[in-house]
Amino acid sequence: MQRARVSIDPAFVVAPVSRRIFGSFVEHMGRCVYTGIYEPGHPTADEDGFRGDVLDLVRELGVTTVRYPGGNFVSGYKWEDGVGPVEQRPTRLDPAWRTIETNAFGLNEFMRWTKVAGVEPMMAMNLGTRGLQEAIELLEYANYPAGTALSDLRIEHGAEQPHDIRMWCLGNEMDGPWQLGHMTAEEYGRLATRTALAMRQFDKDLELVACGSSSRAMPTFGAWEATVLEHTYEVVDYVSAHAYYQLLDGDHASFLACSADMDRFIHQVVATADHIGAKLSSDKRINISFDEWNVWYLRELQSGQGGLPEDWTEAPRTSEEAYTVLDAVVVGSLLITLLRHADRVTAASQAQLVNTISSIRTEPGGPAWRQSIFHPFAQTARHAKGTVLDLRLDAPTLTTATYGEVPVLDSVATYDAEEGRVALFVVNRHPSEPVSLSTSLRAFGDAALAEALVLADDDLTAANTESDPDRVVPRAHGDVKVDDGVLTAELAPASWNMFLLQVS
Ligand code: AHR
Repeated sequence: MQRARVSIDPAFVVAPVSRRIFGSFVEHMGRCVYTGIYEPGHPTADEDGFRGDVLDLVRELGVTTVRYPGGNFVSGYKWEDGVGPVEQRPTRLDPAWRTIETNAFGLNEFMRWTKVAGVEPMMAMNLGTRGLQEAIELLEYANYPAGTALSDLRIEHGAEQPHDIRMWCLGNEMDGPWQLGHMTAEEYGRLATRTALAMRQFDKDLELVACGSSSRAMPTFGAWEATVLEHTYEVVDYVSAHAYYQLLDGDHASFLACSADMDRFIHQVVATADHIGAKLSSDKRINISFDEWNVWYLRELQSGQGGLPEDWTEAPRTSEEAYTVLDAVVVGSLLITLLRHADRVTAASQAQLVNTISSIRTEPGGPAWRQSIFHPFAQTARHAKGTVLDLRLDAPTLTTATYGEVPVLDSVATYDAEEGRVALFVVNRHPSEPVSLSTSLRAFGDAALAEALVLADDDLTAANTESDPDRVVPRAHGDVKVDDGVLTAELAPASWNMFLLQVS
């Protein structure tokens, strides 16, 4: 059996756990909004039409921020269409996802929903078909208390209090040729700078996100970030990163190792941002908002199977992935990677929340259930608290076709000094072999096991469904010992594992 060793010491701190790492994303795409979070008439819906069963699951998932309203959708969106009396709102075509958008749900509904869900909003604005003027009008409508045309209009629309939205994305994936209003880095950098400057004239403390690359595989990756940041460096706080992964051609080893790509992505964006900071003689540091990440079977979408509808329809079933055990292990590993970079990735959004590429699935008029990927997210959001520790991992490597040699384990530890709790998250990336893990916690003094969970299965294709919603759940770890400050455990092949320890 392969053997690996981990050492954890409270003296070696990466950064505090930013709660914003546990963000999610609600886009007007497929059934994320309509019959997802919003379904008037559903047996669990409240007077606003918000599904209560979904709200319960959102809270259980532990989501902290929610990005809205897109995504590709935002680049053709007029926010004014989604406010005011519902019966007067226009129905429009959304070319991004080939759907009919009724605008029954818009900004004020979303903001009410965030209050009930207990999450922070992260608003994206349209820099595809629109620009600076729209940005400042939206800001006045959303955030100014009262006494101006647009703030009074919001009050007339039933939102008495200003929304006070702090985080704003300056457009979405403007590097992508598929994006409405796609631009060069130079064009986008100038527009984003002008828009950010104008927004800061209204409120200098807003937190602004410039568009980075839509994936590390984009031909403009690196150069895009450098050019955009040369323009925006002093006026934004974050540069975004987006990444989706999928199992291709049955290559389990590469899929299980895909967080190595996310890891390299983060290193390279940080290096590029710091290089621009050096060029500009700036003391400021730009962090990463990893505001779209997940497993997504994009190949099927692109080939038209389960993809975009031929005809324009309302809220079609787009990208309703049925996530497997393998997908859940990968999601756990991506979250481990984000946490490991807590010093520079200080915000992230899993894409998306409900039905479309999502942790939660619903049926119209029917139940809501947790997908397999719900579980590693919920457990990590619940237990990764305090600070991220810089653990030492001594593990054999695994050779993969797509990512070369990677350590067989992906791991991170957090330490909550107040509660005296260490949480260790470990993925065994090996598709077929267990790994024997030995973890030294001696630096903490006494350590006792509080809980140990594993998500693994002989059938890696097993998934949760409407009729079998708990087929894939984490289970108590069978074989864990803590003796004399050392935790030993056997990690099943292709498994996500969590160990909680009470330390002195
Ligand atoms: O999350 C789905 C889509 O993926 C988003 O709309 C877009 O930004 C990305 O390409």
